[in-house]
Amino acid sequence: MAVESRVKQLRAAGEAVIGFGAGEPDFPTPEPIKQAAIEAIHRNFTKYTETGGMMALKEAIAARETENTGIPFTAAQVATHTGGKESLYLAFQALCEPGDEVLIPAPYWVSYVEQVRLAGATPVIVPTTVADHFKVNGELLAHYTTPRTRILVLNSPANPTGMVYTQEELASIAAWARTNDVIIISDELYDRIVFEPPYPRWLRVAPDLHDRTIVVNGLSKAYAMTGWRLGYAVGPEWAIKAMLKIQSHSNSHPSSITQAAALYAYTHDLESEIATMVNAFRARRDWIVSALNAIPGVSCLLPQGAFYAFPDFSGVLGKRLKYGRVCHTSEELAMYLLDAVRVGIVHGEAFGAPGFARLSYAMSLEQIQEGIARIADALTFA
Ligand SMILES: Cc1ncc(COP(=O)(O)O)c(C=O)c1O
Repeated sequence: MAVESRVKQLRAAGEAVIGFGAGEPDFPTPEPIKQAAIEAIHRNFTKYTETGGMMALKEAIAARETENTGIPFTAAQVATHTGGKESLYLAFQALCEPGDEVLIPAPYWVSYVEQVRLAGATPVIVPTTVADHFKVNGELLAHYTTPRTRILVLNSPANPTGMVYTQEELASIAAWARTNDVIIISDELYDRIVFEPPYPRWLRVAPDLHDRTIVVNGLSKAYAMTGWRLGYAVGPEWAIKAMLKIQSHSNSHPSSITQAAALYAYTHDLESEIATMVNAFRARRDWIVSALNAIPGVSCLLPQGAFYAFPDFSGVLGKRLKYGRVCHTSEELAMYLLDAVRVGIVHGEAFGAPGFARLSYAMSLEQIQEGIARIADALTFA
């Protein structure tokens, strides 16, 4: 968000900045969902709903997750929140005691670490490598497991790397989870943005762990609805109840109008809208990844989901670059690219991955091509 705000500042000053920082689809919200919200306003669906969301929505989400996982969820196992970010926040607040350890594979989505800290618990970062495609396995997790280990955060497809766990990789994590009394928080915000289906789902691989799993999802990425703010958690009733207690004294429920939009989204066929978006993301992914790999000193794995590329820039660090600067960290590199060629990227330090950077390709192919041309120019060795 800091990169984005600097990009906005420069744009406001009339600069032609290309920002690869955005964490949201560039597509508009599908028209029928907007209409459902407008109708909700007109029929005065503008009052408080139940804490955790209206029953019809919770039932629709329970049905959706039952279909996804094969596990018969009920509405009592669902709560909706103001974004998946709040679902995660409440999960950590409800489930962690001070001193509890939460395993967070790196590179990670930035808020996990801060949310765990806000809950008084201890984030334990589990580093991964490019060779492992930024993924953890049971053996690696075992090295970081102590009697205080309480939660593992799983995120597939992942932000910032775009990696998707395979069935075998999830099975290895499940074997570890079975021998350690841990809770799995499965952040599935990007589950609809997968380029080579099928998408291996955690609870399909480890259905026996459903009583220790909280699935987090929401409207933001799948339906291009980041500003509407709707996320949800599905899990064992005791955990959802504990989260509801906090929610009832904080913000009660997401906006009634957003809930009406969500009910529409979760009870209607919007597959063609989603497919249009995913097909565009796939074409952009193919282009951007090969273009990044063509830049000397840069290498990038092929992401299987989400809308981020996560290249390794360490080959250009420490070298004098075309516009006269030597960058020692990817943070310095991000500032150099903004200063020299007006391109915004998010440096990897922010995600626990020095030397890397995240480029969102949620923008037109023409903009991506222009942005990558500028980066290639700026990264020419002097
Ligand atoms: C991995 C991941 N989880 C959760 C979220 C939260 O999304 P929201 O609060 O918009 O539902 C995001 C948003 O960027 C994300 O990237």
